[in-house]
Amino acid sequence: MSLTDLRKKIDNRTAKLTVIGLGYVGLPLAATLADCGFHVLGVDVKAWRVETVNKGENPIGGEEPGLNELINKNVASGSLQATGDYADLHDRDVVFVNVETPVGDDHKPDYRALISALYSLGKVIPKGALVIIESTISPGTMQQIVQPILEEESGGKLNVDFYLGNCPERVMPGKLLANIRNMSRVVGGANAETAAVMAELYRLFVKAEIDPTDWITAELVKTVENTYRDVQIAFANEIAMLCEQLGADVWHVRELVNKTPHRDIHFPGAGVGGHCIPKDPWLLTSSIPDDQFLKLIPTARHINDGMPAHMTSLLEQGLKRMGKNLAQSNILILGYAYLEGSDDKRNSPSASLVQMLQDRCASLRVHDPYIPAYQGNLYELAKGCDALVIMTAHKEYFSLEITKLLGRMRSLLIVDGRNVIREDEAHGFTLIQLGKGSVV
Ligand SMILES: NC(=O)c1ccc[n+]([C@@H]2O[C@H](COP(=O)([O-])OP(=O)(O)OC[C@H]3O[C@@H](n4cnc5c(N)ncnc54)[C@H](O)[C@@H]3O)[C@@H](O)[C@H]2O)c1
Repeated sequence: MSLTDLRKKIDNRTAKLTVIGLGYVGLPLAATLADCGFHVLGVDVKAWRVETVNKGENPIGGEEPGLNELINKNVASGSLQATGDYADLHDRDVVFVNVETPVGDDHKPDYRALISALYSLGKVIPKGALVIIESTISPGTMQQIVQPILEEESGGKLNVDFYLGNCPERVMPGKLLANIRNMSRVVGGANAETAAVMAELYRLFVKAEIDPTDWITAELVKTVENTYRDVQIAFANEIAMLCEQLGADVWHVRELVNKTPHRDIHFPGAGVGGHCIPKDPWLLTSSIPDDQFLKLIPTARHINDGMPAHMTSLLEQGLKRMGKNLAQSNILILGYAYLEGSDDKRNSPSASLVQMLQDRCASLRVHDPYIPAYQGNLYELAKGCDALVIMTAHKEYFSLEITKLLGRMRSLLIVDGRNVIREDEAHGFTLIQLGKGSVV
């Protein structure tokens, strides 16, 4: 099939689509495409995900407005189906790849999922299909890994037997569908004709600008935009720690600084998590053979990775003020997901904090309203505790009834890493807040 024929099939919605990887990114995309009028087959190696989707249910937890309904509606109509068998892909015209792309302990890409998906796909890819990699990848991966594997496994040639492009995803948990529909997209094709067809396809469901380009630019844009954010957050975190020593309030400083044109200090916080910001800067730095000159990006990563250790230090300072130490204290961590309103615990700063504290304090408990293992009554969990450590800005913590904790906790200490508790609502608690030098 030529790109002209594919374009016609996209226009009249007879193109058959596939999304490989039904996670936070792939599943909302599959449901959106199905809702657009296409037949969509989702593929995942996790059998329980496939079964859940085929029942019309949503395996993604947390608050995802509209997603349950969209999956349910499109599975019921037959537009969305899931499978674990790559052989079912034999008649697909467009294949989106949305598998995880983490980094290893050496900060290099761990492409096991991507490579496995490409080998499986290469064996069954129909002639004339368009493959779009949406997973975030290190710049150069399209040319060095994706194209060679697909050519080798299929025995076909790029731009003759199949077409290839990169369109990185920009979603955030909690807003998955809204982000897919409303955020602009960069579509990087192997050539301009492929980018043009990709742009036409994305325009059907994205109500924002679509920017066609080459694939190295698309790979760079994604990893650079997340690296930019990581560096900005690291700057905010460094200023927060500086303010603590000066007895100042970083939130007030930030507000006033941001009144100057072109200043945009980000939020400081107890750490950076998820399947994007903590690893995409490493995907960027690992793209070049000589990375010795890179100083800022690795430093930002280390600052942000160090925030759970800083929270530990704030906790120890607070306990000391109360005449206690960690070994004598029962601690309750509030929030295990990395992001408010989400169940996503990948690279969560709370996981690092748990590791640091578990062998050092008398007892450690964790609460999170969105993660089944940590749900439970917060006020019951707080019984006999000496300190609460707020790690995630879940809305439930903004409405914490501090007075209900008074009779239950053994010592009254809150260490707040997300600016959740207002000083005038601390009700007799010692409140230590990240980035605030004053103690109430
Ligand atoms: N989570 C985010 O907020 C976000 C945002 C933008 C971009 N991204 C990028 O999108 C990609 C996917 O991220 P995610 O959060 O959806 O990951 P995820 O772990 O939630 O989902 C990936 C899915 O792919 C499946 N999978 C793995 N190997 C497979 C294979 N060989 N065949 C079929 N299925 C396979 C997994 O079982 C899993 O269900 C990553 O590259 C990530 O960097 C993520």
